[in-house]
Amino acid sequence: DPSSAKAFPMPIDDSCDAPRQPFVIGVCGGSASGKTTVCDMIIQQLHDHRVVLVYQDSFYRGLTAEESDYVHDYNFDHPDAFDTEQLLACMHKLKNGQSVNVPIYDFKNHRRCSESFRKVNASDVIILEGILVFHDPRVRGLMDMKIFVDTDADMRLARRIRRDTIERGRDVNSVLEQYGRFVKPAFEDFVLPSKKYADVIIPRGGDNHVAVDLIVQHIRTKLGQHDLCKIYPNVYVIQSTFQI
Ligand code: ADP
Ligand code: C5P
Repeated sequence: DPSSAKAFPMPIDDSCDAPRQPFVIGVCGGSASGKTTVCDMIIQQLHDHRVVLVYQDSFYRGLTAEESDYVHDYNFDHPDAFDTEQLLACMHKLKNGQSVNVPIYDFKNHRRCSESFRKVNASDVIILEGILVFHDPRVRGLMDMKIFVDTDADMRLARRIRRDTIERGRDVNSVLEQYGRFVKPAFEDFVLPSKKYADVIIPRGGDNHVAVDLIVQHIRTKLGQHDLCKIYPNVYVIQSTFQI
């Protein structure tokens, strides 16, 4: 009966019966665009939920002896610089509610700390951040929400010079040389093209409090839908869409 509203199918979230899966957020953007800053702001606002942050940087491959000898010629901005299989294995475990040991990466010596790991526990929300987290379709496929942090190139370079000289043991000349040879070309070849996969683009990174507030509201809605399903299993939750 087309005159009756009941005759029309309603979009229903039928995931209520499934065991609760963490909400996975990918945060992508150029180097020093403010990814970590945005993630910290989201985590701070979601203080009443269990949230963990996984850095793609933790999965940088260790260098071979030959690569170590020519480290200034090594392209740390190419997708092959990461052990994506290991990243995927860790993310699958976390998604299935298991804790994982994530490697710790030492930017000063370009290597993994061989004896220590960071334990990441199962959580309600998993945030994966990195310059190339949207590059591999298998990694992208794990994400419920994709955020791209969009900051002007001059701001990124200025912040990178300051950060790398203070925190990562570099001098200004080496930062500028690496930027021209590898960081900028890889941004144009791999990072920028992956912006099209984003659900939300945040201009100005951590300065954009309105965008961060909206994102946090959306995450809360998604987590709340699941909690409602648990308390009132006979109540259907109509799915909503999200746009900025
Ligand atoms: P990413 O994770 O994308 O590399 P970060 O969030 O670590 O970027 O920021 C890179 C550097 O820039 C850090 O030293 C950080 O303190 C600084 N920074 C980030 N966002 C801002 C901002 N909005 N204003 C000033 N400095 C910032
Ligand atoms: O934190 P951020 O997103 O800036 O980290 C990624 C950057 O780290 C890359 O652009 C890469 O050039 C740099 N990097 C480095 N030395 C390493 C590993 C990564 O300069 N040993």
